[in-house]
Order: sequence, then C-alpha cells, then structure tokens
Amino acid sequence: MSKPLSVEGLNKEAILTYLSSEAMRKLTRLDIFERIDSTNTYLLQQAKNHPSAGWVCLAEEQTNGRGRNGKVWLSPKKSNIYCSLLWQFPKTTQDLSSLSLAVGVMVVKALERAGIGQGLQLKWPNDVYYADRKLAGILIEGIFQPKTYAVVIGVGINVEPVSLQSAIGLKEITKDVISRNQLAAYLIEELCQSLPQFEAQGFSAFKDQWQQLDMLSGNLITITQREASLTGTALFVNQHGELVVDVEGKERVFQCGEVSVRVA
Ligand code: BTN
Repeated sequence: MSKPLSVEGLNKEAILTYLSSEAMRKLTRLDIFERIDSTNTYLLQQAKNHPSAGWVCLAEEQTNGRGRNGKVWLSPKKSNIYCSLLWQFPKTTQDLSSLSLAVGVMVVKALERAGIGQGLQLKWPNDVYYADRKLAGILIEGIFQPKTYAVVIGVGINVEPVSLQSAIGLKEITKDVISRNQLAAYLIEELCQSLPQFEAQGFSAFKDQWQQLDMLSGNLITITQREASLTGTALFVNQHGELVVDVEGKERVFQCGEVSVRVA
C-alpha cells in the first residue's frame, strides 16, 4: 500500500528495499548528502577519478542547484528530489544528443509508477509538465573519457508546493502519493532499467512513448535561437529527438540545445 507523502528524510536502506534485483545489479554506489552544492557537480568531479557507471547521488538540499541554460535550480531543504546518476556509454553509442528526451520518458514512467496517473506531459526537449506547470527538470552533462562517454544525468522533481505559478509540486497534484524514498527508488529503477535500452536502440525505442506525451504538438510556439525568434506550429519530434516545426508552410528541424521554446 502506498504511504502518504511526508517530510521523511532520505534513507539509503529504505531506498534499497524498493529496488529490484536488476536495478541493484546496475547500482554501484548510492551517496546521500544533507547538503551539497549540486549533485551533478559532485558526480562530474567523481567521474574524473572513478569512471564507474551506476553511481547515484541524492541530496536533501542543494546550495548551487543548476538548471539548463545556466539557470539556477532552487533546491530548498527536504522539499523535493534532487538526484544525479553517473553512467558510462561506450564510444560506439549513437546519437547521445537525444538521451535527454529518452530520460524524460523514464522520469514520467517513474512518476506514473508513483501514482501520478493521467496528465503528465513532456515539453521538448525534456521538461516534465502537469496541467501546464513544470513538475520536473532534467540536466545532462558529459565528460569525454578515453574509452567511454561519462554522462551525469540530473533530475529535479518538485514535491512540495512551489511558489512560482509556472511550476507545480507533487503534493499539489495528489494528497495520497508515496514517500520520497520510494519516489527516489522508482526514479533510480527506471533509469537503471532503461538506459541499457537507450544504449542498444537509441531514441527510436522511446519515440512512440515520447510522442504520446508531447505537450507542444499542434501548438503555436516561439523558438528563440541566440537573439532571433520565430513562430510556427510544432508538428512532432523525429527519430533523432529533433523538433519539427511548420514555419510559414515549410518544415524546419531544430536540435535540442540550440534553441529555447515557449508556447506562443
Ligand atoms: C532544468 O533546468 O529544467 C533542469 C533542472 C535539473 C535539476 C537537477 S536537481 C539534481 C541535479 N543537480 C543539479 O544541480 N541539477 C540537477
């Protein structure tokens, strides 16, 4: 039976009890900090000396939580989930640029498993939304190593109500969801289970699920690239994870990381 969401502290033993044996095999280390600058920064530093896959870092609070495009990710104490996973991909892995979109699907699956049923959506490239408000964000950072691509996958999930109108916390969606330890475990489980699938098949294995969650498709959007903006209708996300947009009757393709997008 699921427990109500509480301010229980993150606890390693509790998290491990929720993990399947398959995920346990992939998980090589789990660090939990009361306070840290950023779980992503920590694992990026560790990756330089310990090129191991399956290393997870969670924190109760981040003093320098980082979002995409150099933004700050507000990370108050015991409110949310701040989780990073270090993973190693072989140099042969195709199309790592679409990894962040595939991770979006994994985060949605973890949230669905945690009891958030209908209503979750993905805003290209990888923001998780509920009722047009942002519920979770993903920051992927990589370092090149001689034999592998070391990648740190950072996920922030809002749990407590958020003061920003544009964001939402799990507690505003449902009063009867699971504990933070269970939610963290579901997230780790999804990532550990699905990253090998991404390694083998790339984004094509996630494209159909992504398209079902697509928040922008059919909407008028404004795309900003450096100083310039243009408006068009979002059509779909292709097999490379690129956004295809109808701009004045012509299909234009945009890559993740190059542009920012908002509903017009
Ligand atoms: C976004 O801008 O939407 C991405 C936010 C990513 C936040 C997470 S919280 C855990 C990890 N550590 C960080 O400093 N950032 C990511």
